[in-house]
Amino acid sequence: MQRFPAEFSDVLTDDGRRWLYQGHQDDLSHNPNRSFMCMAGVIQPRFCQEAYSLLNARLYKYLSDLEQKIPLFSTWHMVQNYRERLPKVVRMKTIDMTSYNRAYQMVKEIGLLQMLDSESFYQFVSKLSGYRLRKKMGKQVLCYERGDYIGPHNDHHPEDPEASSGYIDCHISFAGPGVQHQYLIYEQNRHLTEMQAMHHAGVITIYRLPFWHYTTPLAVDEGSLVLDQRRWVVLGTFLFDKRDKNVQKWQQEVSRRLTFSESE
Ligand SMILES: [Fe+2]
Repeated sequence: MQRFPAEFSDVLTDDGRRWLYQGHQDDLSHNPNRSFMCMAGVIQPRFCQEAYSLLNARLYKYLSDLEQKIPLFSTWHMVQNYRERLPKVVRMKTIDMTSYNRAYQMVKEIGLLQMLDSESFYQFVSKLSGYRLRKKMGKQVLCYERGDYIGPHNDHHPEDPEASSGYIDCHISFAGPGVQHQYLIYEQNRHLTEMQAMHHAGVITIYRLPFWHYTTPLAVDEGSLVLDQRRWVVLGTFLFDKRDKNVQKWQQEVSRRLTFSESE
């Protein structure tokens, strides 16, 4: 495969296509207490392998390091017991998609931008989340290698009025055969108790953000090739279309939670 297909629907399995056209009866809009859904078997396995190889061959050299260490002050400047504060810590690689640079050009050249911009990708995320979404979206490409991870964070953007009552992310994951495991740990009933494996090839996850979560360090099979020890994540971020009644219902739920947390 030299390019990603122009339409996302072309890479789906029969199950994936059924959900694209008919929606999912257990979508996020029907589950106010669930922030996250994870689907395997939605993308054709052969496409997953080819996409992994294509990303390795064409995009790897354009990745840049993204690293935020635990600040020393977060430990040694504490003045009260049990008052820890941890900013978002992370180590991974990413493509800079904020300007029209060489990396961005390559994402375009291999057809990835076109696939993420396709009508069927938009429809898929809208149907699976259960919300009408706005078409203008954010796109990112991430790559985890041995030991890469993200610490606890919630992805809330209170300063951005368009996103302050939430938004939807869809992540498509391409893991190499040398990846042993990587998990998403996320909150349920305000405890970080839930765990989902992310290391299977072609996993798709849909998030209604914000909520607390973190990604465990990527573990690899000793003896496997370094080339096979990566997990690429291609993702789209969609804002809610506020005219949709399911979106309005969600915004009422957000207001209720805000009121509840103030009285707590
Ligand atoms: Fe996140």
